[in-house]
Amino acid sequence: MGYELSHIKSYVLRAGRMSAAQRRSYETLAEGFIVPFVPEPVDLPHIFGNENPVTLEIGFGMGIATAMIAEDNPQKNYLGVEVHRPGIGRLLWEIEKRSVSNIRIIEYDAVEVLEKMIRPSSLSAFHIFFPDPWPKKRHHKRRLITRPFTDMLAEKLCPGGYIYMVTDWADYGDWALAELSATPALKNRYAGFAEHQNWRPETKFERKGLEKQHEVRELYFIRDLV
Ligand SMILES: C[S@@+](CC[C@H](N)C(=O)[O-])C[C@H]1O[C@@H](n2cnc3c(N)ncnc32)[C@H](O)[C@@H]1O
Repeated sequence: MGYELSHIKSYVLRAGRMSAAQRRSYETLAEGFIVPFVPEPVDLPHIFGNENPVTLEIGFGMGIATAMIAEDNPQKNYLGVEVHRPGIGRLLWEIEKRSVSNIRIIEYDAVEVLEKMIRPSSLSAFHIFFPDPWPKKRHHKRRLITRPFTDMLAEKLCPGGYIYMVTDWADYGDWALAELSATPALKNRYAGFAEHQNWRPETKFERKGLEKQHEVRELYFIRDLV
């Protein structure tokens, strides 16, 4: 299916220096865990070496929550997509520390990864934790959770698969609730915002938001069975 997706980026590459440990992890582990971007559909079972269900996480930041979730769920696979290289180095470090084998990373814009590399109905879930909120009105066009991108997310999920998004920006929460509710192939699992999912560890951006007294809003939508 073709989508008229915006070519405006949902991120600005942050300069952030890599620590020595992140650089070492990046240099030694990239080959085993980073999947290069290719402009064509990929075979996920081949990438992971098994047929386990795949959750794709957009923008894992430092990836500590990603590594914890993957460690807690060895029967599932996790594909993390991120553009911030120090964060990728950090997640690689966590992968080694925790000896997890069910994570792969793509260092590229998630919009293009989904458009080009991911086949329809091939994912069991999306995790999107604290996406850049772009609070200024003139920047709202950069917000990731916007139709028709949400239609593409739905198309990549297998029936019954879910999208779990969390934000500490009230206005982005309201916006995302409206956009996801308006996506025909998705159904809200809750009436409005979701209950807190206890299995999700706190993330770095969540902690920063809570320190500023931001309220955290969770959204949980399911791909329709039809
Ligand atoms: C506000 S941070 C949140 C990081 C992490 N999930 C957390 O909660 O600590 C958003 C992250 O999403 C990444 N990001 C934004 N748009 C992206 C895109 N289109 N593709 C890949 N990563 C993206 C940014 O690089 C950034 O690291």
